[in-house]
Amino acid sequence: MHVGEEGEKTFDVDVRGNFLKALRTIRDNPPDHLVISGDLCYMSGITRIYDWMRDQLENFPCPVWYISGNHDDSEKLAKSLGLEHLLRGKELYYEATLGDRSFIFLDTSTYEVSQTQQQWLREILQKRTGTVDIFMHHPPALVGAPFMDQKYPLRNWAEMKALFLDYPGEVFVFCGHYHIEKNVHIKNLHIFVTPSTFFQIGQQSAEFQVDHYRIGWREMVWTEDAFQTTVRYID
Ligand SMILES: [Fe+2]
Repeated sequence: MHVGEEGEKTFDVDVRGNFLKALRTIRDNPPDHLVISGDLCYMSGITRIYDWMRDQLENFPCPVWYISGNHDDSEKLAKSLGLEHLLRGKELYYEATLGDRSFIFLDTSTYEVSQTQQQWLREILQKRTGTVDIFMHHPPALVGAPFMDQKYPLRNWAEMKALFLDYPGEVFVFCGHYHIEKNVHIKNLHIFVTPSTFFQIGQQSAEFQVDHYRIGWREMVWTEDAFQTTVRYID
């Protein structure tokens, strides 16, 4: 989302307007749950911005879940958005049941999954069987988008990739950060990168290029025997 302070210049993109436009569209056909997957704030985590988001999402027709991105402050985010009880130290990571599925929400606001968090995750995965579904802001592997892969990947992506490849079942990871739409499948690890409501980044070049300004989000549908996912865009 990259929402700035009121009146702050954000590359001539109306980030607040974009976020509200996406919310209005989603509200017209509301899902069972909405996950806001990090980088709520433009540059750094600011309570006033989290408070503004909370106000916009008041009375939203479904439960809303949050994780932090590298432009967030997990403590401020959690305090503003009513998730203070889920903080572990300065980090916001938790497990939650949405519908009849259990999801794991990770905190990569420091550009990595901390050792403490990895320990917590390993303990959960040891007890789990079958498919696990994870929300984290950064992809846990390089995904073939040269600019972001080279300049801004998750610092310990190799460690996280190995952790997920070690799991005996399928691992579905839903993330953002790269400002692209991309699906990557590495053995049992399935990574779905979701576009931004700010702008999308070119996937061909190692230099920064804006790909386009259509704003997007991802719809995921789980049924008894199937999973399907589609990225929706608004011009
Ligand atoms: Fe990010």
